[in-house]
Amino acid sequence: MINNESFRALGIIGNPLKQSLSPYLHNYWIRQYKISSYYLPLSIKRITHIKRSLKTLNFLGLNVTIPYKKKIIQQLDSIDKSAKVINAVNTLLYKNNNIKGYNTDIIGFKKGLINKKWDKERPVIIFGAGGAAEAIVYFLKSENIKDITIINRTKNNAEKIIKRYESIKFKHKAEEYIKEAGLIINTTSLGMIGYPDLNLKLNKVNKEAIIYDIVYNPVNTNLIKEAKKNKLTTITGLEMFIEQARESFSIWFNIQPKVNDKLITNIKRSINR
Ligand code: ATR
Repeated sequence: MINNESFRALGIIGNPLKQSLSPYLHNYWIRQYKISSYYLPLSIKRITHIKRSLKTLNFLGLNVTIPYKKKIIQQLDSIDKSAKVINAVNTLLYKNNNIKGYNTDIIGFKKGLINKKWDKERPVIIFGAGGAAEAIVYFLKSENIKDITIINRTKNNAEKIIKRYESIKFKHKAEEYIKEAGLIINTTSLGMIGYPDLNLKLNKVNKEAIIYDIVYNPVNTNLIKEAKKNKLTTITGLEMFIEQARESFSIWFNIQPKVNDKLITNIKRSINR
């Protein structure tokens, strides 16, 4: 419901934005809760003068995605603690001429694990060493997880994360030891539409293991299919995506929006289009 007096815009900035699902999701909730707002996809080539733009165009906040999650930080007035540690933000709140940055990806990842039985004593295996892996390592360390191994193509990238934390191991390949893992997480681009598959065989993995793929396009990646074939518990990137969006929405409006089956079906449909 648009009310010109109280209207505050929202949006996502990134480049390229291609087919981000955030506008669909946030506009659905904006309508559902009858809020005077609209969420726009903003594919931009530069991020200069963010505050001036937010002020002039009457924005309440933004989501920030690739490649600006780190670059935007120098333009913020304040930053939430966890976002500061991992040096990446995905949500901005513009209030009283002050821009504050948050990282709701971490909360999204954590909420994906809620209600899943997870043996924290077992090793955690993380595929990939980019920004998402860094945020996940931060979360796992805050949960006191002792045994973490990063598997990545480029050792250098893994070392950038490893040197900031104690006792994380690095491997080039997933060897036999993934058998004992309690949690196996894919944070690489492998499995995403347009990329090759991760191609991990899970038949020897213990039945307690949870397979968490943060890729959401497609939802049923090759890794998720392999996990289901082996009767392992799975968490898809769609669950994490929805949870990070709910958290951003609550930062802007102080409402934890509801998720129903119809919404999930519609999102899946738009992913498969
Ligand atoms: P994000 O910030 O979303 O985590 P990113 O920083 O681009 O994204 O990280 C992508 C991850 O996917 C990296 O770990 C990357 O491996 P490298 O560090 O070796 O670049 C991994 N990745 C991407 N394409 C890959 C491929 N074809 N094979 C193996 N790993 C790949």
